[in-house]
Formats: sequence, structure tokens, C-alpha cells
Amino acid sequence: MGGVQQALTSRRTVYRYKREEVPDRILECAFEAASNAPCHKNTHPWKFYVMGDKTRESLIPEVEKLAEKKTTDIEKLGAKISKAVEKIFSPPLLICVTSARSPQDPFREEEDYAATACAIQNMALSLWGNGVGSQWSTGAITRSEAAYAAIDVSREKERIVGFIKAGYPEKIPSIAKKAVEEIRTYLP
Ligand SMILES: Cc1cc2nc3c(=O)[nH]c(=O)nc-3n(C[C@H](O)[C@H](O)[C@H](O)COP(=O)(O)O)c2cc1C
Repeated sequence: MGGVQQALTSRRTVYRYKREEVPDRILECAFEAASNAPCHKNTHPWKFYVMGDKTRESLIPEVEKLAEKKTTDIEKLGAKISKAVEKIFSPPLLICVTSARSPQDPFREEEDYAATACAIQNMALSLWGNGVGSQWSTGAITRSEAAYAAIDVSREKERIVGFIKAGYPEKIPSIAKKAVEEIRTYLP
């Protein structure tokens, strides 16, 4: 099995990270991989915003509000808020990814979203090849006004497609995938 296949089949979404920082050269290498993703008509619709502490802090009021909305048991509210805040601060890297909007051309926007997904996977695989795990997340915070304000981007121009959390894995989950026989059909 070649190195690429090995990276593809061994990559798992990582939810818990060591505190250790990811070197800039590994992150830059991942952005280069992302930039090489396929995109129809060479639109390069993706943008990556690496969120530092100050930017992450700006999300906290919204994170708290969302946790309050989701929690019916008032006694558990404090713990829920702490957990939600921790999700924003514990990953060594938090990267907001956007895809270009084309309100006048829904097909273009769909193709661009597909291309941005390819770029995210290129980035995840590049990181993985360097021992760094990641998670694509699309929780409510990633769709909030606060997220757009944090990266200073208008919803009319770019759509946030998720936050990518990344860092050296504390734990690599194992997960069952479908057998090849279940997903492919050879037609005559
Ligand atoms: C578009 C997209 C959105 C995702 N959003 C979330 C999320 O909000 N929270 C989460 O825990 N995982 C999220 N994931 C990660 C999936 O849960 C994960 O890929 C799935 O469990 C399969 O595991 P694997 O990546 O190890 O193959 C997302 C993945 C994709 C592709």
C-alpha cells in the first residue's frame, strides 16, 4: 500500500489534543495542500482564517448563549458552558474555513462548496501525514453572526463551512467504515 493510501485509510477525526503547538511549517504545508485541491473553473473559492486567542475570546458570549439555549437543567448550566468554552480554547489550532458565495449562480456556489470540501480534506491529510489530527466541526457557533463578526466577513460574500480544530492527538478513535462491497457497483 502506497503512502497516500496509508494516509487516507488511517486518518481519523481527532477530538482530543495534546497541548503541544503545531509548528508553522506543518500548518503552512497543509495550506499548500489545500490550495492544490481541484476547483472547477479555477475559482479557488476557499479561505482559511487561523483564529488566535483574541478572536476565540470574541466568540465566548455567543458560545455561552448557545449553551444556555440548549440546557434545560439549570444545575448543569455551569458545566455545560465550561465544556462549550473549552471546545473553543483546547484545540491548539482553530481554523475557520469559508467558501465563496455566488447568489446569482447556485450551481457555481455548489461546485465551489464541493471544491472547498476537497481543500479541507487535502489539509486534513497533509496534517495527518505530519502526525497532526483534526476535526471538521459545524456546530451552531460556526453558523452564528458572532463567527462572521470574528473573522470580519460578510455572509453575502463568503459562507463559513466549518471550523477545523487541529493538534497532536491525545487519542485516535477507531470507527467502523463500510466495506467496499457495500459502496461500489461495477456496471456492464
Ligand atoms: C461536513 C462535516 C461536518 C462535520 N461536523 C462535525 C461536528 O460538528 N462535530 C463533530 O464532532 N464531528 C463533525 N464531523 C466529523 C465527523 O463526525 C467524522 O468525520 C465522522 O465521525 C467519521 O469519522 P472519521 O473522520 O474518523 O472517518 C464532521 C465531518 C464533516 C465531513
